[in-house]
Amino acid sequence: MSSLLETKIAARQHALREQGLLRQRKVLSVDHTLNTNASTSSPRFVFEGRAYVNFSSNDYLGLSRAPELVEALHLGAQTYGVGSGASPLVTGYSDAHLALERELCALTGHEAALLFCSGFSANTALMKTLFDQHDIVVADKLVHASIIDGLQDSGAQLKRFLHNSLESAERLLARHQTSALITESVFSMDGDCAPIAELSALCRQHNAWLIVDDAHGFAVLDGYNNADAAKLIDVQVVTFGKALGCQGASVLGSQALIDFLVSNAREYIYSTALSPANAALALAATQYSTAHPELQQKLLENIALFKRLCREANVPLLGSDTAIQPLIIGDARQTLQVAEELRAAGIWVGAIRPPTVPVGSARLRITLTAAHAAEDIAACVAQLAQVLSRVGVPLVTERQAADDHR
Ligand SMILES: Cc1ncc(COP(=O)(O)O)c(C=O)c1O
Repeated sequence: MSSLLETKIAARQHALREQGLLRQRKVLSVDHTLNTNASTSSPRFVFEGRAYVNFSSNDYLGLSRAPELVEALHLGAQTYGVGSGASPLVTGYSDAHLALERELCALTGHEAALLFCSGFSANTALMKTLFDQHDIVVADKLVHASIIDGLQDSGAQLKRFLHNSLESAERLLARHQTSALITESVFSMDGDCAPIAELSALCRQHNAWLIVDDAHGFAVLDGYNNADAAKLIDVQVVTFGKALGCQGASVLGSQALIDFLVSNAREYIYSTALSPANAALALAATQYSTAHPELQQKLLENIALFKRLCREANVPLLGSDTAIQPLIIGDARQTLQVAEELRAAGIWVGAIRPPTVPVGSARLRITLTAAHAAEDIAACVAQLAQVLSRVGVPLVTERQAADDHR
């Protein structure tokens, strides 16, 4: 006889499979031909014996394989060993961590920083520690799961405003005595940007903090992302696993906030510290990205090329200007089918389904990086157009015709 938990697990997995929402891992390996074949510089990996061009990573500047950073990690491990050996308040905090914190503060203008092993734990720690049942918090409808989880754990009252709508945010701020407004700089599944300056002005007017999850903007987005960031943003969460190509995260804010988190954030106090080698690596990656603005430029060129080719092929993009280019299909199964057909052509894009995105908005999440070669971007768009029409997903012209009929 099955135990209660076995029955529950089987029933939930069955339901997910039926809805096309079952999640499964895929074992990827390195494409060893990469280093020897200069013409195929695009990010690639091997899955079940076949090589794919990767259009689904967040390694926006292509730094994860940069020889200088491989060397920095190697040197960090030689200097400090491979692990931190303890939580930060025991003996896990070193001069490598301090150097990274200081660099992040210099880059953003914040007074102090606190390092975490991931953006997920940075966000949950911040929300859980900062807020309690006496706080009202206003957040964009599309903020990341880690923010929602942390807020739920905190007991704060959560009010959501319509995605990127200043009017909706202002209505909530006017109606409620709000402690903080939370948004993302670049939205992870839509690729659009929050109006940071305007939200900051609203927050100042209503005496609320502005908290920005900068996971997908840090090191790639201009505008607020400079030594003046702290003038607009009270708390900024940056991550190292996206544009910096490595791992870890930091909360940036006032010295008082960071001291408060050091004494109270359970994720920080009761967890092995980010390894010093990884801190040294993140420092090297931060400095490398600043010293090589041509990488940001190449990324922008690749985004522009992808968008132009999609426009010419009538591939219906969402209108994002960042490295994250979503193509909404709607139905989860059809989204999977399109992604699988692209894979058959050697192109790997993410198929994003609920609950990651709202029901009815399943999508391809295509990401560009500075490392993609123009011919691979062209091949990706050509295959996209072919697969979409084969599977029966309307292209722009057909969508417009349907709209005109309504
Ligand atoms: C907006 C956003 N915030 C936070 C995170 C979590 O960061 P990490 O991957 O470092 O845990 C992610 C990761 O997907 C994200 O997209």
